[in-house]
Amino acid sequence: MTARLAIAGGTPVRTKPVPPHKTTGTEEREAVLRVLDSGYLSLFEGNWTPDAPFSFRGGPEVQALEAEWSARYGVAHAVAVNSATSGLYAAMGATGVGPGDEVIVSPYTMSASAACAMVYNAIPVFADVRPDTYALDVDSVRARLSPRTKAIVVVHLLGHPADMDPLMALARERKLMVIEDCAQAHGATYKGRTVGTIGHFGVFSLNVNKTIQCGEGGVVTTADADLALRVQLIRNHAEVVVGQLNRANIVNMLGYNYRMTEIEAAIARVQLTRLDALNAHRLALAAYLTDRLRGCDALEPPHVAPGCTHAYYLYAMTYREDRTGVPRATFLQALKAEGVEFAGGYVQPLYLQPVYQTRQLYGEVGCPFSCPFYDGEVSYAPGLCPTAERLHARDLVTTEMVRAPLTREDMDDIVKAIEKVTANLDELRALAPGAPGKP
Ligand SMILES: Cc1ncc(COP(=O)(O)O)c(C=O)c1O
Repeated sequence: MTARLAIAGGTPVRTKPVPPHKTTGTEEREAVLRVLDSGYLSLFEGNWTPDAPFSFRGGPEVQALEAEWSARYGVAHAVAVNSATSGLYAAMGATGVGPGDEVIVSPYTMSASAACAMVYNAIPVFADVRPDTYALDVDSVRARLSPRTKAIVVVHLLGHPADMDPLMALARERKLMVIEDCAQAHGATYKGRTVGTIGHFGVFSLNVNKTIQCGEGGVVTTADADLALRVQLIRNHAEVVVGQLNRANIVNMLGYNYRMTEIEAAIARVQLTRLDALNAHRLALAAYLTDRLRGCDALEPPHVAPGCTHAYYLYAMTYREDRTGVPRATFLQALKAEGVEFAGGYVQPLYLQPVYQTRQLYGEVGCPFSCPFYDGEVSYAPGLCPTAERLHARDLVTTEMVRAPLTREDMDDIVKAIEKVTANLDELRALAPGAPGKP
């Protein structure tokens, strides 16, 4: 006799709410107060002024964060910005991509990974992802290359590294710039290298959901001094600064205000010192959960490719409707009723979103898609990236419950809820839409 499902009126496995994602403590509080007491909440100047206290490169907290980030990641340059979106826009601007160019990007990602191309009037071309890592599939990338391709945005989605070696080999062969979107993959490693140090740029997010956070913020990493300068210029009003810099090769730059404040930088500095412990917590919970779910027919645990360490921004599993006979949405509703929340899929593949379907972005004329300098024919047709579409519609389920301050007891609740639901599949099948008596 199995316990009655909560979705059918039984007692839920768990009633405890999931605790908030709090990664800050006394040290962050002290850091904020230190900045407040200094009176300088931001020390950027939109001029080529290396002099303290106001500077083109920002104040002491921003510059210290950049030095500490470079040291932690073993990369020559780190540029702090006010979000990963800004970081992606700045990195793309620094590549020199422009009207008529194409940028290959995963469709299975947050919108800014592709929007960064359109900001420069370039065309996002979507290549499909791999079903195991959810990151770009090099064969699909190769198939979508054209003489117009100038860059690739590689996203390490959900914390698992993309397979960088074949992607970088292809990029070298075709002289393409590579931006790694590491927003979800702080500290993840690929064959001994930390993601964000393999392509020409790495872009990290410090928004409130990320492994480490400072409210809103981001960091761009690069090994190249010239690219770092370009990112700094785009961060801080390039067009007024380049004249003073007297660098003829970069006069065609438009800057924005992507500057990070001193308070955000002070918080981010402390958060960076917590990264390894926060990641270790995620890894330990994920390993425990994977171990406990071994043998579960309905859900396959996350894939970790050989030579990679996962950062488990989310814990992702493959749902096997072919084994349960229950639609994913019904299965997840039953889990939710038991007090354990999983999401079905990540975000809708980007090309299915209105901006791509209508091809309307700048004004009435439809640039960049109808830009007279663009002589390609990009497709955004449904079915373009079948793996991304299948993951989204059918296979992928994720939970954020593998983070601090959650514990093994919380993982046990997840396991109990899954075991209870999978022990009652007959009852669940009868509740699914389309079952006799169900609309
Ligand atoms: C993969 C990815 N790229 C970029 C971003 C943008 O980050 P931000 O919110 O810092 O602009 C996010 C944030 O959710 C993300 O998940």
